Amino acid sequence: MTATLELAPETELEENVRKRATAPGVDRIVLTGFMGSGKTSVGRVLAERLGWRFLDLDAEIERRDGRTVPEIFAASGEAHFRKQETAALAGLLGQRRVVVALGGGAPEELGNRLLMEQTPRTAVVYLAAPLETLLDRCERDDARTGSAGRPLLAQAEQRFAVRRHLYERIAGHQVETSARSVEEAADAILEALGRNR
Ligand code: S3P
Repeated sequence: MTATLELAPETELEENVRKRATAPGVDRIVLTGFMGSGKTSVGRVLAERLGWRFLDLDAEIERRDGRTVPEIFAASGEAHFRKQETAALAGLLGQRRVVVALGGGAPEELGNRLLMEQTPRTAVVYLAAPLETLLDRCERDDARTGSAGRPLLAQAEQRFAVRRHLYERIAGHQVETSARSVEEAADAILEALGRNR
């Protein structure tokens, strides 16, 4: 099984894709999916392909709050984190020519779903993978960084069962990531957006 979305060396083909990268009719691309789906790593490459800015919702929450996500959860709880998340998302969706990586739980909030739905020229893309693959990637992330960066990982099974339908519902496009590298996932998103708009 391919567990991680590894960065592969750039090939000639990828270089060509980069040169003609476009997302017609779209001003912002929002990446959604569960923890470990590759929203941040794929988002960075996608933004680079498009010459757009990459914005990470968790990083924005941390910037605004001054604490890390695990610190916010530990000291103030999930409900407080979700309020911060909605405020940060509203700010990010106000920007143009951006790729936004959501946190895995953002679509659970109705307000967030409405915000995305009502922001014009916004493409929401679901990065999908089986739960086993997602958990494997999260474990590898933790091993790499030497810390447990995801407070809700222990509840992964229940959360995934609820959220997978929400990801599907809010996204106009779905890209399966389990057999794709980061670059291949970014290219698949560009292809899906170019084809369907
Ligand atoms: C969460 C996912 C995390 C982060 C927070 C809550 C969730 O983001 O927002 O720990 O509820 O699934 P990633 O999906 O980027 O890990």
